Amino acid sequence: MTKKRIFFTGGTGKAGKYAIKYLLEQGHSVMNVDLKPLDYPGVDNLIADITDSGQIFNAMTSYAGLDELESGEGVPKFDAVVHFAAIPRILIKTDNETFRVNTIGTYNIIEAAVKLGIKKIIIASSETTYGICFSDGKTDPKVLPLEEDYDVDPMDSYGLSKVVNEKTARSFQRRSGFDIYALRIGNVIEPHEYAELFPHYFKHPEVRRRNAFCYIDARDLGQIVDLCLKKDGLGFQIFNAGNDQNGANISTKELAEKFFPNVPLSREMGENEALFSNRKIREVLGFKEQHNWQKYINY
Ligand SMILES: NC(=O)c1ccc[n+]([C@@H]2O[C@H](COP(=O)([O-])OP(=O)(O)OC[C@H]3O[C@@H](n4cnc5c(N)ncnc54)[C@H](O)[C@@H]3O)[C@@H](O)[C@H]2O)c1
Repeated sequence: MTKKRIFFTGGTGKAGKYAIKYLLEQGHSVMNVDLKPLDYPGVDNLIADITDSGQIFNAMTSYAGLDELESGEGVPKFDAVVHFAAIPRILIKTDNETFRVNTIGTYNIIEAAVKLGIKKIIIASSETTYGICFSDGKTDPKVLPLEEDYDVDPMDSYGLSKVVNEKTARSFQRRSGFDIYALRIGNVIEPHEYAELFPHYFKHPEVRRRNAFCYIDARDLGQIVDLCLKKDGLGFQIFNAGNDQNGANISTKELAEKFFPNVPLSREMGENEALFSNRKIREVLGFKEQHNWQKYINY
């Protein structure tokens, strides 16, 4: 089925609203489940708390909108779940609250989806699983580029919550055989942020070291989610979700030598190839970036 009825959590947030817009443009229908509604034409909203399993089972068996009453055939089933709702970094809430909301919330979403027979589940993991972003002090990765087979070892509660969520996803996938894909999302950039942020990043590249210089255009993230919806049969998968190049205006070799001088490279890299590698989404999902930063800013 190409046009899907999608249960989307956290769609009111920074990343979700662009992903929802992209999915609607592809012809999917989307119900956004969040604590706050998304004011965007064509989106159905339902307010629910992901940490409350009862609300999530209820929402996942709900009409998306009044129009769905018309067929007289009862509540339609969701074809896919996209789970973005979370506390999106440390230092918004306390560490234990961040861990609680993100892990219990993700457990509740995946459990409900699997038990209701929804066979495609996509969850938001994070680049922070690689353990550099929110580490105490300046730490090195074990190897570069960062690829999905890395032994992830964050030292913060947010990164840890995302590692636990990947394990939760893997556990439910083994039991169900469904497709559950975790996207290790890079630093999300909205269209207006190129002009706002990138000049500073280019002047002070050291501020991007903790992100290994990665970025994902919010619209390209929408494409990645849609590609995951289209690609069936892969079981449990982890995908880095990043753009092709580093969010920096110096070459990959220079970046690695200057900022990670003691880190071995596991393979040869292209001149500007991202240290946060997106090779897997290009090769497995057919991702073709539409929004490289060079389209939006001179350097
Ligand atoms: N923004 C980034 O750079 C980035 C990078 C890597 C991963 N991620 C991940 O991507 C996802 C989206 O991030 P974002 O930047 O859009 O975050 P955001 O905070 O802008 O959006 C998160 C949304 O989740 C909702 N939410 C929070 N707690 C909830 C609850 N208990 N029940 C229901 N809804 C709840 C919020 O209301 C919000 O609309 C998150 O899972 C985040 O961890 C983001």
